[in-house]
This record gives sequence, structure tokens and C-alpha cells, in this order.
Amino acid sequence: MRTLQSRGDGAAPPELSPWFHNLHLPGGRQTAPDHPLGDFPATKWSQIAPHLPEDLSGARALDIGCNAGFYTFELARRGADVLAIDVDAHYLRQARWAAGELGLEKRVELRQLGVYDLARLDEEPFDVVLFMGVLYHLRHPLLALDLVAEATAGTLVLQTLTLPGEERLETPDDLSIDDRDEMRRPGWPAMAFIEHELAGDPTNWWAPDVACVEAMVRTSGLKVVAHPGHEIWVCRRGRRSKWMTEVVRAELDAATGR
Ligand SMILES: C[S@@+](CC[C@H](N)C(=O)[O-])C[C@H]1O[C@@H](n2cnc3c(N)ncnc32)[C@H](O)[C@@H]1O
Repeated sequence: MRTLQSRGDGAAPPELSPWFHNLHLPGGRQTAPDHPLGDFPATKWSQIAPHLPEDLSGARALDIGCNAGFYTFELARRGADVLAIDVDAHYLRQARWAAGELGLEKRVELRQLGVYDLARLDEEPFDVVLFMGVLYHLRHPLLALDLVAEATAGTLVLQTLTLPGEERLETPDDLSIDDRDEMRRPGWPAMAFIEHELAGDPTNWWAPDVACVEAMVRTSGLKVVAHPGHEIWVCRRGRRSKWMTEVVRAELDAATGR
């Protein structure tokens, strides 16, 4: 991510640089107008926005890894009360300042928390959850996704870096131990581990393929309802067996000490 930041053009106090989000502020000011990915993440939001209600009045939303708050502010503009969390105090300072510039402070609560802290968050599950650009930064992605699923009552929007390709294999209910070559076939859910750095960032740990993202979503008790753009999924609550639910809950309790 370090290579994807912008120093801004004086739209914000210099101590808030560098910026990953290009926020559009009153008076035409932008926090990262020279972002290497273009008008980011407005371009991604345009793919997600049609999949969320235009009126979110009365809804509660959670933005995990909120960064400078681009998505948080879009949800707040639609009327949601948003809890926005991030581990990085620098990004939370940006978001706090921008909430003031945008006059959205009353709709947005910013807290320095990580995704694993959801295990002990004393909140009802949320109507809308955004989990964008975080999964591959985690050493324990499935633990995190299970916690995110627990926190989701309505819609989850998930975005992650993936391996190239769109293949998806219909995997069997069971596989003989002698047939493990099957798991080498393109489209079998798979995730590449990154021991060193990717794009100069040592916090990039995993690159799942699309089949793996969707399979992980399903085993977390959610279902994919739309795939509106490259590396983006819209999910809702799905079905999971009683056995699976109990196994996952016991693991989450043990892993998080709650
Ligand atoms: C690639 S940026 C994505 C920002 C934003 N969600 C987006 O999609 O544009 C990753 C963000 O996740 C945050 N982050 C990293 N690890 C996290 C964790 N364990 N829990 C919550 N946020 C985390 C980073 O500080 C950073 O703001």
C-alpha cells in the first residue's frame, strides 16, 4: 500500500499526508488527486453503490479497515450510522478530520480496533458491513472472515486481492486421499502464501483465487449474491449446518479467548 499513497495537493493539513483515499471535499478539494490507481476508491464505489440501498436511514453499518473513511462517508451520506474501525492511528486521524470537513461527525464513530477485536465488540450484528482490502493483509484470514460473518446481519461487501484467473471448480462432497492431485486443478479453491513481500508490502500475507474467496465465504455462513466487479463480492447470510456452526463458534471462542 505504501506505493499507492499520495502526498495530496494541499487540500488537507500537511501532517495528515500521505493519503491512500482520494476524498472529495467541499470546494473541489481532493486529498489524493494524483493517486496511482486514478480516482480511488470512487471507481470501486461506483461498482458497489448499486448493490446497497440508496436510503440507509436507520441502518447500522460497520466499515472494517476504514482507512481515511471514503466508504464510511458514502454510507453515512445515505443515512447510516457507521462504526468505522482501523488499526492505524494515522488513517483514523485523516478520517476524523475529514468527517469534520464533510459535516458527518454525528453519523460516524471512529475507533482504533482490528478485525479480530470484533470477537469482543459488544454490538448487535450490523445491517451493512464493508470488509474491503483487508483480508489479504491478515495472517489468519478465515478466523477474520468468521468474525466478520458473525458481525453481519444483512449485507457484507468483501474486497480482496486475488490470484489471476476466474476459474471455479465444482468440488466434490468428499475426495479420496489418493486423489489429491485434484486439488492442483485450476479452479480448486486455493490460496498462495506470501512469505516475503508483495509490492514492497510485508503485510500482504495471502493471495486467494476467486474460487477460494467464494468457498471461504460459504463456509463462514454467508452466500455470494453478486460479484459486481473484479475482486469484489456482495454477500448475505447463508446456511450452515449445526455441526459446522458449533465447530466454528468453539474455535472462535478458543482463538479469541472470549
Ligand atoms: C488496503 S487498505 C484498504 C482501505 C479501505 N478499506 C479500502 O478498501 O479502500 C487496508 C486498510 O486496512 C487496515 N488494516 C490492516 N490490518 C487491519 C486489521 N487487522 N484490522 C483492521 N484494519 C486493518 C489498514 O490500516 C488499512 O487502512
